[in-house]
Amino acid sequence: MRKSSFRTHTCGDLRAEHVGSKVTLAGWVRRARDLGGLLFVDLRDRYGQTQVVFEPGTDVFEKAKELGQQDVIQVKGIVRRRPEDQINRSLPTGEIEVLAESLVVLNESKTPAFPIEDEINVSEEVRLRWRFLDLRRPEMQKNLILRHRAAQATRNYLSSAGLVEIETPFLTKSTPEGARDFLVPSRIYPGKFYALPQSPQLYKQVLMSSGFDGYFQIARCFRDEDLRADRQPEFTQIDLEMSFADVDDVLDLTEGLMAHIFREVLGIEIERPFPRMTYSEAMERYGIDKPDTRYGMELFDLTDFFRDTDFRVVRSAIEDGGRVIGFRVDRELSRREIDDLTERAKELGAGGLLWLSSKEGQLRGPLAKFIDREKGLKLLGGEGKTALLLAGKKEKILEIGGALRIEVAKRFGLIPDGKWNFLWVLDFPLFVWNEEEKRIEPAHHMFSMPKDEFLDYLESEPLKVVGKIYDLVLNGVELGSGSIRVHRRDIQEKIMEIAGIPAEERQKRFGFLLEALEYGTPPHGGIALGFDRMVAMMAGRESIRDVIAFPKTTKGQALYEGAPSDVSEEQLRELHIRVEKQNSSS
Ligand code: AMO
Repeated sequence: MRKSSFRTHTCGDLRAEHVGSKVTLAGWVRRARDLGGLLFVDLRDRYGQTQVVFEPGTDVFEKAKELGQQDVIQVKGIVRRRPEDQINRSLPTGEIEVLAESLVVLNESKTPAFPIEDEINVSEEVRLRWRFLDLRRPEMQKNLILRHRAAQATRNYLSSAGLVEIETPFLTKSTPEGARDFLVPSRIYPGKFYALPQSPQLYKQVLMSSGFDGYFQIARCFRDEDLRADRQPEFTQIDLEMSFADVDDVLDLTEGLMAHIFREVLGIEIERPFPRMTYSEAMERYGIDKPDTRYGMELFDLTDFFRDTDFRVVRSAIEDGGRVIGFRVDRELSRREIDDLTERAKELGAGGLLWLSSKEGQLRGPLAKFIDREKGLKLLGGEGKTALLLAGKKEKILEIGGALRIEVAKRFGLIPDGKWNFLWVLDFPLFVWNEEEKRIEPAHHMFSMPKDEFLDYLESEPLKVVGKIYDLVLNGVELGSGSIRVHRRDIQEKIMEIAGIPAEERQKRFGFLLEALEYGTPPHGGIALGFDRMVAMMAGRESIRDVIAFPKTTKGQALYEGAPSDVSEEQLRELHIRVEKQNSSS
């Protein structure tokens, strides 16, 4: 523990063995209570809490009577054993108390906007406005300390695997990860801009060209995109890259890293190797590319089952080239519950939701009279179960089925606690079709290598090409994403061309990478893990904002420091920027 000239011990240090010692503590007044003439102050700091007693009839008692919540004080006194009936077993310092002999008020506190306690009932907006006080609450300190330990564990593990921690620039050229860039105007070059990096992608690849063999960085990334509970405009990745590496090498190192972090920080042994699933299998079985495998209810295909049905909606869906899919819930659903789920399915874009259940051997639900009883019962697999079915265009109903599966699991509390289900999803397509813009675009980013057997189809059937692309999923959350990269200029240019980037543009935007590919860039690959997401899950928090010291709101504002904000005319002039006045009603 570091030395402090203000204290001999922290508020978490003192135990029975210290009884009789003279100590000095410093910390915040959690509360002061006047009990039967004695004054008890709970003194708190990051390390814990200690009870300080002031006895009447002393100067220090009179002074202590003035103490208010969150005043920061220094107390000298003698450690003594608490009377047997006052021992607090739930507190590590609960056997002792400090009998105060002197008191210095280091700073007084105004009354905080909310109690500095774990259980508070205030909006997140208020918490963010008063972030320095919010962060004084023990649970928030715990979250950030956990984050610190996860970062330490990451550094230790990756360093001992031989990767070198290298910083890459913030003021850079646009690096595409599919979001909008934050731009920084250049004062020296009027009309020119730096972009804040959406990730260190290009730099880490170039570092492999430079021969570093392995790189990592706990890297800040900036993306101007719509925010949600698990998205921030600036967030942190564990970013890594390795030369002479193929898919298994990256997966293996990442698994080792995860196992190390969970062991060091949470004391949990993660089972390895992590299960693997291809992208297309994930879509078929779970209707999503990040399946939560903590619970079952897998999707199944019923197209053949219903091929000759007389049920009009289903039949016409199949005749239109669509499919019927479903999943089974191991409980009976009430009419109300089915109506709610139908509503949800419609919100998600389904025409409707079909269901089938059984009671005393008889099928129930809109499909019941169109299905052979035996077959229907077999499909349900027993009494007290409900099958939910969707018919329509394949991609769409898989997606809706996948979303409903999650909805059902959440609504009916079917997600078991205490599970850490890691999963690799592999073999993502290299390109996807953007229906809105009617064009092909890279599914991940443009730097991923096609699987060897698809190289020949790159030009003729790009949408069929599978890439050496993988995602790490934890409990249904996309934790990380990576790939083996293109290390040859000809293939890289071809991919950019297919993505619709003309030669001139390729040179302008990515010239520095393309150039490196012509000077002996080795085969390489890597991954980036969402550090905020990982820490939030480890801390059991819903929102990544709870593990980021100074996050933005979902509207992109920093409420405590007040950003974004106006700047002076002078600053704008220097940057050669003129701001068009916004119409206040717009
Ligand atoms: P990708 O864009 O998939 O890949 O990002 C990797 C991981 O970062 C996390 N993440 C975010 N976390 C919080 N807020 C955000 N706005 C946000 N966006 C992404 C996710 C995601 O899985 N350069 C590539 C990686 C590579 O190919 O090596 C990249 O950035 O957990």
